[in-house]
Amino acid sequence: MDQPGSRRIILEATPDATELRLATALLQTIEQELRDRPGPVHIALTGGTTGIGSLRAFAGLGEAGAIGWDRVHLWWSDERFVPGDSEDRNERQAREAIGGRLAIPAANVHAMPSADDAADARAGAEQYERELARFAEDGTSWPTFSVCLLGVGPDGHIASLFPDREEILVTDRVAVAVHDSPKPPPTRITLTRPVINSSERVWLALTGRTKAAALGLILAGANYASVPAAGAKGRLQTRYFVDESAADEVPWELIDEDLPA
Ligand code: 6PG
Repeated sequence: MDQPGSRRIILEATPDATELRLATALLQTIEQELRDRPGPVHIALTGGTTGIGSLRAFAGLGEAGAIGWDRVHLWWSDERFVPGDSEDRNERQAREAIGGRLAIPAANVHAMPSADDAADARAGAEQYERELARFAEDGTSWPTFSVCLLGVGPDGHIASLFPDREEILVTDRVAVAVHDSPKPPPTRITLTRPVINSSERVWLALTGRTKAAALGLILAGANYASVPAAGAKGRLQTRYFVDESAADEVPWELIDEDLPA
């Protein structure tokens, strides 16, 4: 049993192996949560190559089809504010990755509003806050995610919380609009840091040499305003799913061991 707040690096040799390891951990955690708790199980998905690749691997796991999907709700930690049928949508990429292989009730898939659904990204963020509030628990205005998946950018961004931007410091909103994003497309909606960190498990995925610097800054305890990924922590656990390229500079003694709090 992990100590609450435990942080650990999970290393695999390649991006594919990392995605499969994350997918397998997600399957096991969803199954365990469905056994351990009576109510809904909430999972926050992410975009990006590793986030989507992990979903593709997850849908390919035979046991994923046997999950009681009627109690599992899927959310997003961020989304691009573009038309709903745009290939840039994290939701569209997620649905294509899953490819209809999982019987997830439509009402359990909570996509962030697209540019077809809301007048602007601010209105879209407010709409998502209302959707989250419908499933609120424990005195907050949003559900507790059993797992919040996060890709990490080369600059250390998570979701659409980018370095040295005002959104990473927001604590009085659940979701906010992002404009002029350093990563295209420019307009987005993102959950805020307090919501992400209210998750029981925060799992960050970093693969490839371009993520080695971000991983190093995370492990060095960088300030989260400058390296948002460094400030992402789950209440029960934080896991860094990495491949050998991203972990090239990480001392081997930090791998698969509890990291200092
Ligand atoms: C997005 C993602 C973003 C992504 C990272 C990592 O909407 O762009 O949510 O946070 O996860 O940029 O993306 P890669 O895995 O493609 O590097």
